[in-house]
Amino acid sequence: MESLVINGGIPLFGEVEVSGSKNATLPIMAAALLTDEPCVISNVPDLSDVNFMGRILTTLGAHVEREGDMIRIHARNPRGIGDYNLVRKMRGSVCILGPLLARLKSARVSMPGGCVIGTRPINLHLKGMKALGADVSIEGGYICASTRRLRGTELFLGGRSGPTVLGTANVMMAATLAEGETVIDSAACEPEIIDLANFLNKMGARIEGAGSPTIRIKGVESLHGAEYSVIPDRIEAITYAIAAAGTGGEVTLKNLRPEHITAVIDKMREAGVSMERNNGALTIRRTGELSPVDVTTLPYAGFPTDVQAQMMVLMTLAPGISIITERIFESRFMHVNELARLGADISQEGPSAIVKGGLPLSGAEVMASDLRASAALVIAGLVASGSTKVNRIYHIDRGYERLDKKLQKIGARIKRVQENNRSD
Ligand code: EPU
Repeated sequence: MESLVINGGIPLFGEVEVSGSKNATLPIMAAALLTDEPCVISNVPDLSDVNFMGRILTTLGAHVEREGDMIRIHARNPRGIGDYNLVRKMRGSVCILGPLLARLKSARVSMPGGCVIGTRPINLHLKGMKALGADVSIEGGYICASTRRLRGTELFLGGRSGPTVLGTANVMMAATLAEGETVIDSAACEPEIIDLANFLNKMGARIEGAGSPTIRIKGVESLHGAEYSVIPDRIEAITYAIAAAGTGGEVTLKNLRPEHITAVIDKMREAGVSMERNNGALTIRRTGELSPVDVTTLPYAGFPTDVQAQMMVLMTLAPGISIITERIFESRFMHVNELARLGADISQEGPSAIVKGGLPLSGAEVMASDLRASAALVIAGLVASGSTKVNRIYHIDRGYERLDKKLQKIGARIKRVQENNRSD
């Protein structure tokens, strides 16, 4: 296994090119299963999760080729079985269910299982497939869904924590080939859902309202191949923005959509960070002291859960008390104990973390627990004095394209090393 070793305390300066969005790419790749024609997707980030989705599609019988930032997927004759050994390893792979069911009228996809950030049920995905007229059962750890023909319907897809992103994606994909019109109420409004709908419409689907809580899908007989470029990764962009602010530097992010991150821009300004928008670029600058702010994670357009951990690191630097409340995933606080190793004072009260900011952070050896927690630990290492070693960085490679290289380019002293002494 590999680790990252960071010598912190150095302000970051320069430009970062934001990569394509992981969470837009994964369902778009799955959507290519809906047609027997080739699809070409560009601005695809080079990430292990994306490669993994490619492997899953290959085992389903699709032909997947990658060249640079482009992936060509041709699912001429797919089979409908999503294997346990693959699907259980990546939650995002559950979004093969909708396309397989729509295309083949029957799908057998392994239950994705829980994960370190929470229980992550799939009841809403199943509710959606049943509402579209599928018979759904769980047998031997597999979701078995079948139908003679999916039928359009009106359904409410809100759950205990609000809408579901991949659930909306799954139902939307299945409904493209259903007979008649489907109306999804309480749909997820994330930009990744709009991106998927745009791709599906390019394939010949008839979807309206994506990006709002009500999505209308008029079913069509078949979809065709399409070319599409995915949106920039808003979570990657924010991660670099927080790293820049944390180290007290000045960084310009290129190739991003600032309108996708307004909740974070607003919070960072409230904390005393200058966030200057200039067409498709964003310059982050911090010269003065940070102010504490309270943050509550919410579905889009609220503050994203995927940057809660990174924001917590920023708040450890702001003298005073910040309260960070997690409303999407109940156990997404694995980074709290690791940040304590660097000297942060954070206590957890139910869904909230109380951060007493302003104490100096000093480098230590820490362990990455999940993708975004790992990014937070890297930021903490960049702002802490001395050396920080972040172990188990395979989590980072799942969702950040060449993170160490991009950080080196803006002046970070960070290097990838083989993890020799096990810390678990
Ligand atoms: N939920 C249910 N039932 C369901 C599905 C979800 O109760 O059937 C609950 C979840 O337990 C959670 C809430 O609904 O409390 C929202 O979960 P959602 O379904 O929206 O999450 P997801 O679609 O599985 C995607 C991203 C996550 C991101 C969340 C929330 C991908 C591949 N994953 O997951 O990204 O945190 O939306 O925005 O798109 C990450 O990139 O690090 C990551 C975890």
